[in-house]
Amino acid sequence: MGTTLHSASPELLLPDWDPRRARRAQVEAGLREAIRGGRLAPGARLPSSRALAAQLGVSRRLVVDAYGQLGAEGYLIARRGSGTVVASHAGEPGAGARPEPPAPVPTPVDGIDLFPGAPDLSLFPRRAWERALRKALAELPDARLSYGELAGTTELRVALAAYLGRSRAADADPGRIVVTSGYQQGLRVFCQLLRARGGSRVAVEDPGYPIAGWTIESERLEVVPVAIDDDGIDVEALQETAPDAVVVTPAHSLPLGAVMAPDRRRRLVAWARESGALVLEDDYDAELRYDRGPAGTLQGLAPDVVVLAGTVSKTLAPALRIGWIVVPAELTPLAVTARASADGGGRRIEERALAELIESGAFDRHLRAARQRYRVKRAALLEAIAAALPDRGVRGVAAGLHAVLELPTGVEEAAVVAGAAEAGVHVHGLGAFTRAHRQPPGLVLGYGLASERELREAVAAIAAAVRERG
Ligand SMILES: Cc1ncc(COP(=O)(O)O)c(C=O)c1O
Repeated sequence: MGTTLHSASPELLLPDWDPRRARRAQVEAGLREAIRGGRLAPGARLPSSRALAAQLGVSRRLVVDAYGQLGAEGYLIARRGSGTVVASHAGEPGAGARPEPPAPVPTPVDGIDLFPGAPDLSLFPRRAWERALRKALAELPDARLSYGELAGTTELRVALAAYLGRSRAADADPGRIVVTSGYQQGLRVFCQLLRARGGSRVAVEDPGYPIAGWTIESERLEVVPVAIDDDGIDVEALQETAPDAVVVTPAHSLPLGAVMAPDRRRRLVAWARESGALVLEDDYDAELRYDRGPAGTLQGLAPDVVVLAGTVSKTLAPALRIGWIVVPAELTPLAVTARASADGGGRRIEERALAELIESGAFDRHLRAARQRYRVKRAALLEAIAAALPDRGVRGVAAGLHAVLELPTGVEEAAVVAGAAEAGVHVHGLGAFTRAHRQPPGLVLGYGLASERELREAVAAIAAAVRERG
């Protein structure tokens, strides 16, 4: 029997407490499920935080935090004076259905590398990976070393469904997951799904991830750059350009470091449903948030129109080339065919090892340690900037592997980049990520690869370049 809630809203049943999971996460998951499953309909009023806390026997703070989290994800809206209500586009039909060039490219460089896409490769959990790989080799029967499992290794799809549900509030089941060779292949498969539906125009955040634009173009689709600001993609501008699909990074954008605001999440989903457009959610670095838990996925809010794409390139290493997409049920067969026709399927042994890493808890342990390291590195970077360039702002939330340093107006980004390079510091300007929507001058500082000492040296070199060339 679960814990039953009675309120002005429909009866709400939260499952029994699971002693292994934090209560706040359970309250959040229970509410999400109730909204997705339609038990809490759009517009329904939730109990006050005080009432719900009393009924569940938890602190009011916990309920306030849980409502806040679901608000950030776009499920709930807090209305002054009238309490918290379910957002109008959450949990609509399909949302709960569960059927079975001159831009940043990752090249190793001499000197200090501030490439924003790379994680700290010295953190790669070699021992745990080795154990997982040995286990995979020992346990995979000969028959499973053949062709097959075209959607990806079964154990990995099972492990990912559970992981994405619990850690990313995604609506995932193994039958709708396709394992890919990194995010990049997931994007390619997405493009093919779109072409099969007759689509031809894909909107991208501008500035954004340059490789996404190139990949879309190489799939013979038109790229439509849409402005992004500190609240995520400009949904009104998106609607005006009327593309067939859009690629977004709601948890943390590259390069601006924006988190998509709740009202934009809701409007994006509403637009996609009304216009029949597909959304690709690039969740590339969502696990890396340092000041609070990351916002849950957009896909969890609207699994009928959002394809969720993930990767281990930021959490483990790009060299593994393992990613995944979670696809609406009716598109899954086509996604499997598209993926398999590219290269015959994935790497069974490594995928099985990744499943083991996730299920053994080693992946979570690694993530906790990695977050701790990046928190320290980011703090070192910000401290160095505050000391060397005290009047300069930094854009982006405390997340991921990059931050944007704002340069003084009128300064030539390219001149500062060149000056830093002469001092052995390799950094990219915002211009390298921009197609049409020019930004004020700024540098994208990746802190994954560099040590704290190198970050301090790099900032000193950049500050010198700003003084000399600015
Ligand atoms: C915005 C964004 N998405 C995705 C990726 C990861 O792609 P992949 O899994 O293909 O390595 C990156 C890597 O830099 C990125 O910056």
